[in-house]
Amino acid sequence: VFAHVVQAPEDPILGVTVAYLKDPSPIKLNLGVGAYRTEEGKPVVLNAVRKAEHQLVNDVSRVKEYLPIVGIAEFNKLSAKLILGADSPAIQQNRVTTVQCLSGTGSLRVGGEFLARHYHERSIYIPQPTWGNHIKVFALSGLTVKTYRYYDPATRGLNFQGLLEDLGSAPSGAIVLLHACAHNPTGVDPTLEQWEQIRQLIRSKALLPFFDSAYQGFASGSLDADAQPIRTFAADGGELLVAQSYAKNMGLYGERVGALSIVCKTADVAVRVESQLKLVIRPMYSNPPIHGASIVATILRDRNLYDEWTVELKAMADRIISMRQQLFDALQARGTPGDWSHIIKQIGMFTFTGLNAEQVAFMTGEYHIYMTSDGRISMAGLSTKTVPHLADAIHAAVTR
Ligand code: LMR
Repeated sequence: VFAHVVQAPEDPILGVTVAYLKDPSPIKLNLGVGAYRTEEGKPVVLNAVRKAEHQLVNDVSRVKEYLPIVGIAEFNKLSAKLILGADSPAIQQNRVTTVQCLSGTGSLRVGGEFLARHYHERSIYIPQPTWGNHIKVFALSGLTVKTYRYYDPATRGLNFQGLLEDLGSAPSGAIVLLHACAHNPTGVDPTLEQWEQIRQLIRSKALLPFFDSAYQGFASGSLDADAQPIRTFAADGGELLVAQSYAKNMGLYGERVGALSIVCKTADVAVRVESQLKLVIRPMYSNPPIHGASIVATILRDRNLYDEWTVELKAMADRIISMRQQLFDALQARGTPGDWSHIIKQIGMFTFTGLNAEQVAFMTGEYHIYMTSDGRISMAGLSTKTVPHLADAIHAAVTR
């Protein structure tokens, strides 16, 4: 009965790792998936996470009972505070409902399904380009996916005029997906002044902002600075949704820890919204897993662990920033044709190089460098040792 099933293509991002793992070359380099590596090219477990896990393992009172549908209450509270700020009026007024979800993707999906069931406008506008999974997540949630201009290939920067025009002509009430910081895949973010204009436009047209916050702390090294755009929206008293991921900023990739917060107009609405979120979650995966969210709650509640985490987070962000400079310098040293200043201007985990699919295929074939075909490279997968290899490959690709 399944003979007609056709082979599906690999995921455009996770499939890069599949191809990388099959390559026997000793010089192979995976710059596909956005996952942090040390200078030695190894995955890292943060000390704050190790210590939190140690505490959890030694606490014999801990059991493996089902969590509530919405997850660990303390984790939810602390997550909302982390993203909206400890002094957030929306939190103080109990206008925020937060549910623990399966990392950023799960949070987006739960939010998308909630909106498809309970929000009057089905269109969601996503930036062009965006993280590839956004399109599938929202389409399968039952929303109609549309795009707004975001990236300008000519400047390798923000197409701010195009963005304002497209959001300006979106139907009133439409949902707008916004990358809170470190836009994936371009590494191009609006300035705070541009965010303010975006906010005014969104509010004046009664559009509904839905933030994807996958990199809080990773872009600038500061948890507060990276949350600033969201906090500005929350401060105007209007509604918003935010999907948080702890994959990158706590290195909890495989633990699948995230949260969806919905800021409502009143506490009463927030209670009802949460009751409906439970109806979305229960038939999807019943209730979330305990371990990862317990690690996060342990770190966020403990001053020492929190401080240790922020130092480690800043070190990761700084290493990425230094990789940008090193790659830029290496291309300058080789006299590689073209303006590569976008490598140091863009922020977050990724550089959107401007290399085309054919050049990427050349670099993979000849240099065993793996990256997505849109020319995105994960700066977090790069090290001082591997920068020259990548620079050689880029130089060869553009001078062929
Ligand atoms: C990425 O864009 O590489 C990450 O967000 C990982 C993923 O799930 O795609």
